[in-house]
Amino acid sequence: MTAAEQTAFGVYVHWPFCLSKCPYCDFNSHVRHAAIDENRFALAFAREIATTAERTGKREVTSIFLGGGTPSLMRPETVGHVLDAIGRHWRVAPDVEVTLEANPTSVEATRFAGYRAAGVNRVSLGVQALDDASLKELGRLHSAREALDAVAIARKSFDRYSFDLIYARPGQTPQAWSDELARAIKEAAEHLSLYQLTIEEGTPFFGLHAAGKLKTPDEALARALYDVTQDVCARHGLPAYEISNHARQGAECRHNLVYWRGEEYAGIGPGAHGRLDIGGERHATATEKRPEAWLMRVEANGHGVVTDDVLNREERADEFLLMGLRLAEGIDPKRYAALSGRTLDARRIDVLREEGAIAVDADGRLRVTQAGFPVLDAVVADLAA
Ligand SMILES: C[S@@+](CC[C@H](N)C(=O)[O-])C[C@H]1O[C@@H](n2cnc3c(N)ncnc32)[C@H](O)[C@@H]1O
Ligand code: SF4
Repeated sequence: MTAAEQTAFGVYVHWPFCLSKCPYCDFNSHVRHAAIDENRFALAFAREIATTAERTGKREVTSIFLGGGTPSLMRPETVGHVLDAIGRHWRVAPDVEVTLEANPTSVEATRFAGYRAAGVNRVSLGVQALDDASLKELGRLHSAREALDAVAIARKSFDRYSFDLIYARPGQTPQAWSDELARAIKEAAEHLSLYQLTIEEGTPFFGLHAAGKLKTPDEALARALYDVTQDVCARHGLPAYEISNHARQGAECRHNLVYWRGEEYAGIGPGAHGRLDIGGERHATATEKRPEAWLMRVEANGHGVVTDDVLNREERADEFLLMGLRLAEGIDPKRYAALSGRTLDARRIDVLREEGAIAVDADGRLRVTQAGFPVLDAVVADLAA
């Protein structure tokens, strides 16, 4: 790891509202029929930023991520207030990456110029699918045409943009996905996030799936769809740098690398998580999830933190393994040893190598292979045991 990576410090800001709730989604997102008081939220974000900066002391912010929910429902002025507050309380790196997650509707695309003027320099669009029937099934409020128009506006407005697609959708064949992905790559510049549909407990999709009304691909088909994803993307110069993220070299999302490399980040807003190094200890923080309850806590106490756990060596090392092995670059076993106080089991490494699930590079880095990624959870559990 280079010195530059070691000093990475990200700020995540959560906007918890959406126009409607997609039936597959279990993110902290809420639908409100009354208007949202954005000024009140902007003040609360600024206050929580100030309180968090008091705890961290001096840091140089290398990335900011406005995620959701649907941050593209925020007025550009609100985004500007949040970015100004970050700049008042921390030093901001001259080449800071500032990403905003956007839903690809025509209304939201009209705000892109305002976001750019406010300081956003990268957008990540939730396109999800390129055909209208799938979008309808996913409960999306936009058509494929509208989404592609929003991508075109993003291309004109920002040097860097990415979009998300969900695959392993009901009825999807490897051929259909391969064609859809090839079309998507033509629209993508440098980065794509490709997520396998996950049936999350508590969502409407979970109920439909349990009742047999929503059929998702079986293990063999899911594996074939995963293989198509890797092959098509690699052929077009967008290899996976993380299990679900593809980029041209140098175009990786720097903010998400902070998470996967086990670096430091502040979590601001309702339901945001943080990892802060304070007094030589790593704190895992989480804020109140419910937006109005978060507002009241911040207004009363200056922050909405409801969980603040100091991670012990074992927890830190496990987290490092769990996050780092998602990356194609893998992990440095020496860093694992420094965190945990013990080395990884050489016999387990040998077995996993023989099975083709992991590889050890000439410089000693340990990484999961393409064959190992579909069984990543089992590989991590085996190494961490
Ligand atoms: C928090 S969402 C925010 C993006 C934005 N609100 C949108 O929907 O366009 C981030 C991404 O997670 C992915 N996602 C959410 N729920 C998922 C699920 N159950 N399975 C797979 N991907 C999911 C979607 O691709 C989505 O774009
Ligand atoms: S997928 Fe995006 S738009 Fe849909 S409910 Fe989740 S956060 Fe909101």
